[in-house]
Amino acid sequence: MLLLLALLLSVVHHYAHGIGCTVTDSDSNLYIFGAPYGDVSLGPSQSDWTSSSTPAGQSQIPVSLANRPSFDTSNPTCMFAPFLNLIVVLNADKSFGVKALHVFDTNARVWNLVPLTAEPEFPGGEGLVATLDHDTNVIYAYSNGKIFRIGDADKDNLSQLSANGKLSLYWLSQFTVTPQPFDGSGYNKPVFGQGTNHLHFFNAPGLKEGEAWIFVVHYAWWQPTQQSYGSFPQLPGQSVYIPFGTKAPPRFAYIPDDGHQVLLVDTSVNTTNAVSGFGESGANFRYAATSQSLIQFSSVSGKLKVLDLNTGNVLEGSGVALLPNIVAASEAKPKVEESSSSEPTGAFSQPSPTVKAAQSPIAIVTSTLPPNVSAVQVVSPAKNMKDSGGVPLLATSLLLVFFAMLLL
Ligand SMILES: *[C@@H]1O[C@H](CO)[C@@H](O)[C@H](O)[C@H]1NC(C)=O
Ligand SMILES: *[C@@H]1O[C@H](CO)[C@@H](O)[C@H](O)[C@H]1NC(C)=O
Ligand SMILES: *[C@@H]1O[C@H](CO)[C@@H](O)[C@H](O)[C@H]1NC(C)=O
Repeated sequence: MLLLLALLLSVVHHYAHGIGCTVTDSDSNLYIFGAPYGDVSLGPSQSDWTSSSTPAGQSQIPVSLANRPSFDTSNPTCMFAPFLNLIVVLNADKSFGVKALHVFDTNARVWNLVPLTAEPEFPGGEGLVATLDHDTNVIYAYSNGKIFRIGDADKDNLSQLSANGKLSLYWLSQFTVTPQPFDGSGYNKPVFGQGTNHLHFFNAPGLKEGEAWIFVVHYAWWQPTQQSYGSFPQLPGQSVYIPFGTKAPPRFAYIPDDGHQVLLVDTSVNTTNAVSGFGESGANFRYAATSQSLIQFSSVSGKLKVLDLNTGNVLEGSGVALLPNIVAASEAKPKVEESSSSEPTGAFSQPSPTVKAAQSPIAIVTSTLPPNVSAVQVVSPAKNMKDSGGVPLLATSLLLVFFAMLLL
């Protein structure tokens, strides 16, 4: 009975958990955040990432660090600012949504909070896709049928963070010089790739196979005509650019959600090379890339798959999932967190020490389980994306507990 209860509660606990992400820095070090095993820096070795035992070069980043986002949302984005050595995380904490950036300094290994205001409106977080422009440090996003950006390349950008700990930035939505060349109202599954400082939009209205709409970042200019990159279906998916030394990357991977193939779009010659996919893709997965490889992170299992860009081979890395579940361990202790009702205030201000009441009983039960709580992952992973999923699940669990009690 107790075991059943423990299992059910740990299932609820798991469902309350959101999506994590993965990102690389300019030295090809791979980072993973919000995994079942917490946050980890895996170093630059592809063979380490695909090891079947715990990767040798890993170092776990404490999840207790101040200003760390909770990774409790269904749609976070992690980006890297190559000239600032900052990992920039958007929409990874429910209590902030799109009203803050969480910025991880890869040298100092600290998190900073950059509050965001909006002129005149915030984007929605659910369907949001975003990228950090390689050269300008400006974040571009698409949501609610239109393009948004954070700050600008001249003055208000993340490069100020090192000098100004109280930096705050703003969302801008009315800045394009030319109008969007398509009706964005039905564009609910946007996907765009960054190549040569242009943003290439797929799966959008008015596109034939292999075509993209182009937004030219430096001129805030929508190209009025489509550009062809080859012949492939328009599908919802994700994208990540392939780093290219210190230059603006010309290539990006477009990874349709059906998992069948990975499209390597080269915007310097306007062609696409299709390679075999990861088999599975979609909302549970996040991507990072180095110049040599494309990395797929499963937020459910914490495992990695690595596509070698030279050979097209996909290797699986299950070793990383053997790392101890430090998230569960840390949540077992009362954790100091920002109260969910408070709006982001000043950057770097210490969060008010309120303990999320709901977490303690669940966490205490979780901590009585063996460290390997893989049983949790047997339940359908597709459902844990919906924030609302927790409520019906909780109800189902309580019902089950009730029937179990009747049986005893
Ligand atoms: C960002 O802001 C700083 C300070 O205002 C400015 O010097 C710099 O040119 C801006 N652009 C980039 C790409 O960092
Ligand atoms: C590639 O597409 C861009 C955008 O339409 C265009 O400006 C450029 O001339 C094309 N380059 C080649 C090599 O076709
Ligand atoms: C956790 O469980 C999985 C599946 O049963 C098993 O493959 C793995 O070796 C276990 N890991 C540890 C650390 O016990």
